[in-house]
Amino acid sequence: MEKRTYSSFLLKLFKSFDVTTEMMWGLHPLFHEEMKRGLTDKGGSLKMLPAFVDRPTGKEKGTFIALDLGGTNFRVLKVRLDGNGNARVENVERFVIPSVVMHGTGTQMFNFIAKSIQKFVVNNKVDTTKTKKLGFTFSFPMKQLDIENGILVTWTKDFSASGVVGKNVVSMLSDSLRQFGLEVLHINALANDTVGTFAAGAYKDPKCDVGIIFGTGTNACYREKIVNIKKLARGYHKKDHMIINIEWGNFDKLPLNEYDLKLDKSTKNPRKQRMEKMISGMYLGELARLVLSDLIRRKFIFVNSKAKFTKGALKTTNMSLIESDRSKDLIKIKGFLEHAGILKTTVSDRNLLKEICMMISSRAARVSAAAISSVITWMDPKLSKHHTVAIDGTLYERYPGFSKRITGALKELHGGRAKRIKLTKAKDGSGTGVAIIAAVAAKKKNSP
Ligand code: BGC
Repeated sequence: MEKRTYSSFLLKLFKSFDVTTEMMWGLHPLFHEEMKRGLTDKGGSLKMLPAFVDRPTGKEKGTFIALDLGGTNFRVLKVRLDGNGNARVENVERFVIPSVVMHGTGTQMFNFIAKSIQKFVVNNKVDTTKTKKLGFTFSFPMKQLDIENGILVTWTKDFSASGVVGKNVVSMLSDSLRQFGLEVLHINALANDTVGTFAAGAYKDPKCDVGIIFGTGTNACYREKIVNIKKLARGYHKKDHMIINIEWGNFDKLPLNEYDLKLDKSTKNPRKQRMEKMISGMYLGELARLVLSDLIRRKFIFVNSKAKFTKGALKTTNMSLIESDRSKDLIKIKGFLEHAGILKTTVSDRNLLKEICMMISSRAARVSAAAISSVITWMDPKLSKHHTVAIDGTLYERYPGFSKRITGALKELHGGRAKRIKLTKAKDGSGTGVAIIAAVAAKKKNSP
């Protein structure tokens, strides 16, 4: 291997993933422009979907069943709200969604969900003699008609069940529930997972005005003044606020490198969810694999070993493990590589692999920080108030250094004022939050 070619290639590679402070600032006006467009009928890459709910008071009370669909698991939770800012999950059951269901027909998918709910009802002796209110977290872009109805705009994250796009998902689920004899279960609140996470954060902390998911997918919501939501039909009090689901995963003003383009081409939704493909757990591993395959092809890594990484062979969880290896000889990485069939590796091979992972996850964190800062400065340009940001998702929770890098980048952007942005984990927010929203919706219906 020629040393000069090797170093100049790496230099170029790292540069193509670099996000400087200037670049982070440069994203702000672009993000704001897309937010502005999305709030009007014109639309743009940010869908800015009204959620028909504002923040909870923290006094909502009762026990609610929450449904959570959005990743590889469908979950049913029983959540107790104590009216004092505490939401407790009393029972939870997970059902793995088989690939045939994810990619089958919509009816098959909603029947699978109804059947899982039926199991939960039986296992947890849920009283089905009276009408029960349910909250439904549906973690995809949907155009809500009100708090309990919404139309799927497009699938993301590898879901592709047919006959659902353009349909009211609550009607579809209610039809399936009826088929399973569960008509007493009434979905009275529908929310995106970011909106659920926001509600979980705001139930405890009235300063919470942003909800984010960093998981299989990524997205955020925030609290907007109704006067600014130009596309919303009239009938609202101008002083009111509403939560807007940004659908930031689809932001399309980021510079893309050759690996982003390659990755995008191989997905089920090319040219869509560009930012999500740079940030979320579903894609980071594959992005790293594409870089690695290029290095292997150029004989810059694993030259003594017949290495081949096929699609899916490097997952984001593997990257987590690789980055967490702090041993001198990178033993954990060695183990992972041996397991993948790559036996003769050198310490510098393993070091390079670790650096590749860091390069990709750092870019994800810095793009995320720029997006968080854009949303907050949209609401409060001078950062004159405190903002709590509730965050849920495995990437944020478990990926080593991810949250620290976001905090660091926010400091780079705002100096001492960055302290006014408080990032908090809202564990299970996407599940518990919709129970809170169901309580808000129930109260609204009962009030004159
Ligand atoms: C979906 C969002 C969702 C996010 C996190 C994205 O793919 O479009 O609606 O909030 O994933 O689950």
